[in-house]
Amino acid sequence: MDIIPNFVVFEGADGSGTSTQLELLEGFFHSHQNNEGPRLYCTAEPTNSPIGSLIRRSLRGETQLDAKTLAYLFAADRNEHLFTPNGIIERCARGELVVCDRYVLSSLVYQGLTCGEELPANLNAAFPLPSLLLYFDIDSELAAKRMEERPLKDIYEALEFQTKVRERYQALLPRFAAAGVRVERIDASASVTEVMATVRQLLTTPLA
Ligand code: TYD
Repeated sequence: MDIIPNFVVFEGADGSGTSTQLELLEGFFHSHQNNEGPRLYCTAEPTNSPIGSLIRRSLRGETQLDAKTLAYLFAADRNEHLFTPNGIIERCARGELVVCDRYVLSSLVYQGLTCGEELPANLNAAFPLPSLLLYFDIDSELAAKRMEERPLKDIYEALEFQTKVRERYQALLPRFAAAGVRVERIDASASVTEVMATVRQLLTTPLA
C-alpha cells in the first residue's frame, strides 16, 4: 500500500478533540510561520465539497440515507479530496505538510460498525495511507461529558456507540502500523494545552 509523504491524519472517537487541535495547530503555524518550514495545509473529512455537505446533512439527521450509501459517499468524498487539483496528493507532492481531521480509518471504524466491515474495507482498499497517524485516545464517558457542552449532536454520538468506536480503533490501529504508517497514540484526556504541545512535538519529528 502506498504511503503519502508529508500526510498526517488525526483520528479518534467523537469528543476526542481532533477538530479543536487542528484549529489550534493552524492558528499556531500561521502566527509562527517563517519561510524555512513547510507550508501547512489543514483539512478535514467529510470535506466542504457538495458530497461532504450531503454527508453532514445525513449525519445531522436532515436527510435519511442508508448506512451503505453513506459508506459510498465517504469514499467518494475522499477520492475527490485526494485526487482533485490542489488536493491532498498534489499538495503533499509539492512539499506542503497536509494535516487531515479523519481519513480512511474513520470509515473502517464508523461504517464498519454501521454497515459491516466488508463494504468500507473494499471501498477504501486502494486509497494511499498517511505517513503519520495521530490517534486521540479518550475514555468514552469523558468524551461524552465533553460533548454535552456542544449544541449539535450527530447520529453517531451516543455513549454506547462511542464505546464500540473506541474498541474498533484499538483493534484496527495495528493494521495501519503493519502497513508502514507511523502510529502515535495521544492521551486525549489531557488538557487542550498539553495535547497541543504533544501534537506539535510529534509534527516536528521528521516525516517519511
Ligand atoms: P466531524 O464533523 O469531524 O466531527 P468531530 O468534530 O466530532 O470529529 O465528523 C463527523 C462524523 O463523521 C464523525 O462522527 C465521524 C464520522 N465519519 C464517518 O463515519 N466516516 C468517515 O469516513 C469520516 C471521515 C467521518
